[in-house]
Amino acid sequence: MDVILFGPPGAGKGTQASAVCEALGVPHVSTGDIFRRHLREGTELGLLAKSYMSKGELVPDSTVVDIVATRLSESDAAGGVLFDGFPRTVNQATLLDRWLRQNGRKVDVVLNLVVDDKVVHARLSGRRSCLSCGATYHVLHQAPAVEGVCDRCGSDVVQRDDDSEGTVWKRLETYHSQTAPVLGWARGVCRVVDIDANRPISEVGQAVVAALSS
Ligand code: AP5
Repeated sequence: MDVILFGPPGAGKGTQASAVCEALGVPHVSTGDIFRRHLREGTELGLLAKSYMSKGELVPDSTVVDIVATRLSESDAAGGVLFDGFPRTVNQATLLDRWLRQNGRKVDVVLNLVVDDKVVHARLSGRRSCLSCGATYHVLHQAPAVEGVCDRCGSDVVQRDDDSEGTVWKRLETYHSQTAPVLGWARGVCRVVDIDANRPISEVGQAVVAALSS
């Protein structure tokens, strides 16, 4: 099954991803995580991505589509994938759709996490992330057991550069102008389930699992 977890920055895509992947038995493909991994490894791609991410802008489609195509060619992606943070433009969406159809697949469902901008702002300003394994926390709603230490891998938990005040608003603006139109495209080609993600994490999780089995 190929599923897109969609929504603005801070909607809770990463938070809900592992439950979805477990339920479906598919790998998690997050373009943001792939860029951050390259950045940690100091690759040319990582440095290029950082120049856009730090300003709250999108990495160019050609670069994004190349890294997704490479990821989809790996054996664990053959039976379906959970896309998180991709597609982010209508152009990315149509290229993904074409690639899937050429391979006898299609987007089965888009899970659209709907959240108010003010809620997004509160979530991202309180978010803390493990730069080693990518686990996310929140200072109020989901703190690690030991402050500053990742529950999963024991590495440092810090604030992401692009969660700073100014960049969060710019990311939201980018979402509304360039990414939200993907929903219009999706409603024409596959099932889209709108999920109220203003609710607590466990309630959103239940709604996500229910949407997968409906
Ligand atoms: P990316 O890493 O994809 O960031 P994003 O989409 O902005 O999403 P986030 O990771 O910020 O939020 P999330 O929805 O996963 O929320 P989370 O679960 O962490 O992309 C970063 C950048 O890379 C982009 O800006 C762009 O530059 C570039 N990029 C990536 N993909 C690209 C593409 N396809 N094309 C072009 N450029 C691309 O939750 C947030 C916080 O809220 C956490 O602290 C969490 O604990 C808390 N929380 C979650 N759910 C709840 C809840 N229900 N109640 C209370 N708190 C909650």
